[in-house]
Amino acid sequence: MRRNLCATLRVSAFLQTQRNPKVAAVYRSLRSKSPPSDSAGSALILKPTMERKLYQPPPHVRGMTSLDKEVFTQTISVPALRVPTGVLNKVVKSLKKSTIQRPGIPRVVQNAEDSGDFRLVLLDPYRVKSSDSFSEAEAEALRSFSVSEELQDFELKLTYDNLKSEEVLEAVLPQGQDVTTSFSRVGHIAHMNLRDHQLPYKNLIGQVIMDKTPGITCVVNKTNVIDSTYRNFKMEVLAGEENMVTKVRENGVTYEFDFSRVYWNSRLSTEHQRVVELIKRGDTVFDVFAGVGPFAIPAARSGANVLANDLNPESYRWLQHNCKLNKVESKVRTYNMDGRAFIQGPMKQELPALLKKKAGIHVVMNLPALALDFLDALRGLLNQEPGCEETLPTVHCYGFSKDDNPDTDVIKRASCSLGFPLDDKCSVHNVRNVAPNKEMMCVTFTIPKEVLFSSDEEQTDSAEPAPKRQKCEGAADST
Ligand SMILES: C[S@@+](CC[C@H](N)C(=O)[O-])C[C@H]1O[C@@H](n2cnc3c(N)ncnc32)[C@H](O)[C@@H]1O
Repeated sequence: MRRNLCATLRVSAFLQTQRNPKVAAVYRSLRSKSPPSDSAGSALILKPTMERKLYQPPPHVRGMTSLDKEVFTQTISVPALRVPTGVLNKVVKSLKKSTIQRPGIPRVVQNAEDSGDFRLVLLDPYRVKSSDSFSEAEAEALRSFSVSEELQDFELKLTYDNLKSEEVLEAVLPQGQDVTTSFSRVGHIAHMNLRDHQLPYKNLIGQVIMDKTPGITCVVNKTNVIDSTYRNFKMEVLAGEENMVTKVRENGVTYEFDFSRVYWNSRLSTEHQRVVELIKRGDTVFDVFAGVGPFAIPAARSGANVLANDLNPESYRWLQHNCKLNKVESKVRTYNMDGRAFIQGPMKQELPALLKKKAGIHVVMNLPALALDFLDALRGLLNQEPGCEETLPTVHCYGFSKDDNPDTDVIKRASCSLGFPLDDKCSVHNVRNVAPNKEMMCVTFTIPKEVLFSSDEEQTDSAEPAPKRQKCEGAADST
């Protein structure tokens, strides 16, 4: 790169004549104190001498659908200071805010026409328009190192590699359209959700994101709405290797899984942590919709006994894998069944003995599109047992809400499903805003005795809610 830069170097004639430092100081202080105006004082406001948009790629890249990196190459002019090598490090440190900040561009270059005693410090052309652009402190530093404030023009060859992803995409995609290309990162995979107008450019966008994001070797785009059963997306590889088996770290725990076949959402890490912090050593956790283990495994690591279930055979497989990976397989029993069958099977069997102990019992139900409907599986769950208990289980149940008042909406729906008014007997936590007007909520409550030991509801063996139960209304949807 340095050789390349030296080759393109051509220091042009001095742009500015030496100024009286005292006058420059007066200019600076006036500039910092008074806003620009049309009054007599405005004569002292210094005009930029260089063009803005210096980093804009050439206009003919607009509309490109297949990435041609060469077309982005151009030479631009940036200001530079000629600095003796003896004070180079000190000068660069003092000018930290004014030096050029470009991927792959060094701040210091050698001037081919100079002796080895000098180097050129490249400056940010947006910040430094003339010698007067230096702050008081910068100018003072230059004076103290006896470095002339005179700027030189340095011709810099900028290539695709020196551009940021948003600069490339802004130049390529149709003008006036939103080019926001945010993605969530899942290990080596960048997961995008492109809008219709971006689709003709999808492979180029994928390539640019991959080129510009260290560690990303695969870019995928969501191609349909979330699968309503297993909560995973269909996805299309836009760029890079087609390897969907990835590794992520969340709250100090490592997970491996096939991202195309299971549910994973990096935005839930804070929520996983929040709930796991409520769980104490010796507690028991029933994770009804466990996925690949982001509640179950950290809970086991903090000393809880965990029963973790997921209906998706792929999730179940990766859940088991992750238990081994994190050395908690002796603390986690895994199940591959419907959530209702899990509640009415393994959970029902374990509860009577657990209720007699002091340790906490937590039931985690993170399937926000449906989990509130599953609460009816708790009605009369222990109707054959004597209603005597030391500890009742705490439920953390998730639900989406599109209601104007999501708190009361999810309480109402949980109460309806349980057949018991939770009202002031629960707390509600807003987990995250999923989409405009759509919140993900968590309702936490202790299962009321009246629900757990009730005898007015039949238990079913079926995965479906009992048909006679009325469907509880709510402002959720399943996407
Ligand atoms: C939203 S994900 C949550 C996964 C994990 N708990 C987390 O926080 O990332 C819901 C999980 O429920 C599973 N699932 C969907 N329907 C189910 C059902 N009827 N019974 C059990 N698991 C189910 C899906 O396969 C998915 O892994």
